[in-house]
Amino acid sequence: MTRPYLLAATDSSPSRRFYDVIVIGSGIGGLTAAVGAARKWKVALITKSVLRDTTTFLAQGGIAAALSEQDSADLHFEDTIRAGAGLCREEAVRILVEEGPLRVRELMEICPKFDRAGDDLVLASEGAHTVPRIVHAGGDATGMQVTSALAEAMRHGSRVQVLENEFVVDLLTNGGRCIGAVSLDLRTGDFTLNFATATVLATGGSGQIYSLTTNPRIATGDGMAMAWRAGAAIGDMEFVQFHPTGLYSDESPIFLITEALRGEGAYLLNHAGERFMVGVDPRAELGPRDVVVKEMVRQMQDAGKDFLFLDATHLDCDMLRQRFPNVSETLREKGYDLCHDKIPIAPVCHYMIGGIVTDVWGRSTLPGLYASGEVANTGVHGANRLASNSLLEGLVFSDRIVRDLDRYIVDMEELVRRLEIDLPGPSRKGNRPEEIAGGRRHLQTMMSRYVGTVRSEDGMLTALEELRRLHSSLQAPRADLEEYELFNLLTVSVHVVRAALLRQESRGAHLREDFPETDDANWKHHINFRLREAEDERKRSPLLEG
Ligand code: SIN
Repeated sequence: MTRPYLLAATDSSPSRRFYDVIVIGSGIGGLTAAVGAARKWKVALITKSVLRDTTTFLAQGGIAAALSEQDSADLHFEDTIRAGAGLCREEAVRILVEEGPLRVRELMEICPKFDRAGDDLVLASEGAHTVPRIVHAGGDATGMQVTSALAEAMRHGSRVQVLENEFVVDLLTNGGRCIGAVSLDLRTGDFTLNFATATVLATGGSGQIYSLTTNPRIATGDGMAMAWRAGAAIGDMEFVQFHPTGLYSDESPIFLITEALRGEGAYLLNHAGERFMVGVDPRAELGPRDVVVKEMVRQMQDAGKDFLFLDATHLDCDMLRQRFPNVSETLREKGYDLCHDKIPIAPVCHYMIGGIVTDVWGRSTLPGLYASGEVANTGVHGANRLASNSLLEGLVFSDRIVRDLDRYIVDMEELVRRLEIDLPGPSRKGNRPEEIAGGRRHLQTMMSRYVGTVRSEDGMLTALEELRRLHSSLQAPRADLEEYELFNLLTVSVHVVRAALLRQESRGAHLREDFPETDDANWKHHINFRLREAEDERKRSPLLEG
């Protein structure tokens, strides 16, 4: 994991492709970047699964943007900063809220399915927004509608080469620049060197470091891990957002019940049938996510249970079925009636706030490498993301990446085309499938037990020790998706634990029982990691140093 490359045995020498831009990942950040870049450049979009297998596709709530007369960029700015618990980068937030409305209107031109009442957009309320400002499509199917529209635009209106079922193993670097990525075709087992003047990582989050997550199985933190191996800075890794209302079950992924339901008036109830958020936050069930989750944890501990209830039984049934068709139907399939049942729910891992550190043009600290969406850490979310700001972030910052490419590609093109790279020797040993599957389960159990909603030093040291043990029990990976994913999960997990151990305070999504207060004097700053000696694979593993 200290090596710049995770590459493995290959009998044939890899083939080569050349692009101006490669985009890795097919959520809102990746699709927006690919469609925009292809207006001018030769672009490939690479995804390890199929286009729609993304976290964006599952997004229910919608996109936050100041589009109504009663709203303004200033109000959206204030809400975002307040929710972010002191760690938002204000310049990035300002850009998000000011450029957001135009980006959303542009999206509406290719995605006509946004919900309207007559000519007016229907705007939803969600936690910690002072006014209704969430636009949504298909009721609670925003991600599906947006992904389909962007994918359609990419397939029919642009010249993007789409490469599905290709796993990007590692970034290619030379002379301190990113010059593309190595991919593995999951159907043929062939490696390809994809040279590109600019590379955009939009690989999404890392929810699979926990046993219970709303994220799909593909969310294994690949982008963060490969960027770190390549020498880019990653930061804010301790801030993992748990969503208050995952359906209580042991399914994977956990079915999310959108916060917009609480926006329509649904209650959170404890085991005594009481609305426990009343009196805890002036907005009760619509308080910021970190505040709601903290109180949920307390309520569950008091009751000795690991779930609570979401209650929409007092709301109009026709409205519920019309506004939330996907939630109503999925719950029905699972044996619950949203109109008549109190639905068991629990906080569940939902969103990685941390990621690849970028500036306001989506540029990572590694020249030639951009990042957008959940994999990126633009700083707009601070220590606690405001609901429905994430799709907006992908839209806004991918647009800025596309604009910045014009400058970067003109500067770099000639130089990159003349570069050669030197890949390390292959490994042939690998690990048995049962070791990999068991390793993944063990990692998820350790992270869930010790580095979940409530953390303490003792527990996190135990988790770190177990992650170290797991790492040292593994051989270098062969050309195998599951093996690569486990190494990436390990890299992300270790950085989450290390950052969470360092931050001796509670702030936003990071809750420590041994340091329950927020400590601005010592901790009002970001924690970043950067591998400076990536070139030398014989060096001791900085990943696993204490
Ligand atoms: C939701 O619909 O509750 C999720 C929205 C979000 O995570 O931003």
